[in-house]
Amino acid sequence: MNSRFLKPVMLSIALILTSFFFSSSIIKENGLFKPGQVWNDIEGIPVNAHGGGILYDKGTYYWFGEIKKGKTWRVEYITSWECYRTNAGGVSCYSSKDLYHWKNEGVALAPNATDSASDIHSSKVIERPKVIYNEKTKKYVMWVHIDSEDYSFARAGVATSDKPHGPYTYMGSFKPNGQMSRDQTLFKDTDGKAYQFCSSENNATMYVNELTDDYLKPSGKFKRIFIGLSREAPAVVKHNQKYYVLSSGCTGWDPNPAAVAVSSSIMGDYQLLGNPCLGKDGDKTYFAQSTYILPVAGKENSYIALFDRWNKTNLEDSRYIWLPMRFEKEKMIIDWKDEWSLEK
Ligand code: GAL
Repeated sequence: MNSRFLKPVMLSIALILTSFFFSSSIIKENGLFKPGQVWNDIEGIPVNAHGGGILYDKGTYYWFGEIKKGKTWRVEYITSWECYRTNAGGVSCYSSKDLYHWKNEGVALAPNATDSASDIHSSKVIERPKVIYNEKTKKYVMWVHIDSEDYSFARAGVATSDKPHGPYTYMGSFKPNGQMSRDQTLFKDTDGKAYQFCSSENNATMYVNELTDDYLKPSGKFKRIFIGLSREAPAVVKHNQKYYVLSSGCTGWDPNPAAVAVSSSIMGDYQLLGNPCLGKDGDKTYFAQSTYILPVAGKENSYIALFDRWNKTNLEDSRYIWLPMRFEKEKMIIDWKDEWSLEK
């Protein structure tokens, strides 16, 4: 090629390479959590995974959450509390290797669009999905809060899949140990036993329900905790052989102070330790509500506390508050950060 042409060609190649180098280093530097800001998936679409939980499976994190899409309205015949809702959109699943960049894996548990009698019909409530893996049955097991639009049904629903991201097959709902089950989470212990924590007795008391070996039902063994204290939004973590339950008070979509409790056995007597949320607006849980505590894989004493900052009149635009959580001796500490990363 004539050198008159060669020069501009080489110049453009150099330019393309330089811009590629810069954009890829920008992508790397973008590993930041920005609590409360719109969080886009890797296609640039806001993540829709509310009241969620995380499954860590073979080097990948899977984030499951409520799909809240479209119009929010208030159920007018309910006057005792502000029952804002969207149609139940089912459960979403996103995957990530680094916790910053999330790929939409599609709808893990699809709502039923046609049968209004179905638990998971879009006119119902499908909230707070959590997934754990059962080594014995090789199934991924999801538990969700299933409710009627007025929240009087108060049941737990179970779905399973052979793959972490689903699709999950819905198996039905029940009242664990014959009791109401609303806000809920799952906790899988190091010995492989699993438990459902749920707000019961009209949200006045929390239950720790031990699960059967296949994680599909309660085993019949349970413990009532926070009796008459009206705690919800449970998130459970084990640290130094102790069990910690982070929860909120019961004020619907509105924020209130969080509280953490500790016990040396999972079905033991939990001692309330107060609000672990420090810094700006910690007394209002940063205008958010707990949903999960994620131990960061491969990092000791490194946890992320996950909260939802509900926007009750536009639930789809509710934001995620992910903050670093650590223990100082027995004390759980969560601190506000405008932005942060695990690396710093
Ligand atoms: C909250 C609960 C949410 C949702 C909401 C409905 O107390 O934590 O998950 O159920 O009530 O108002």
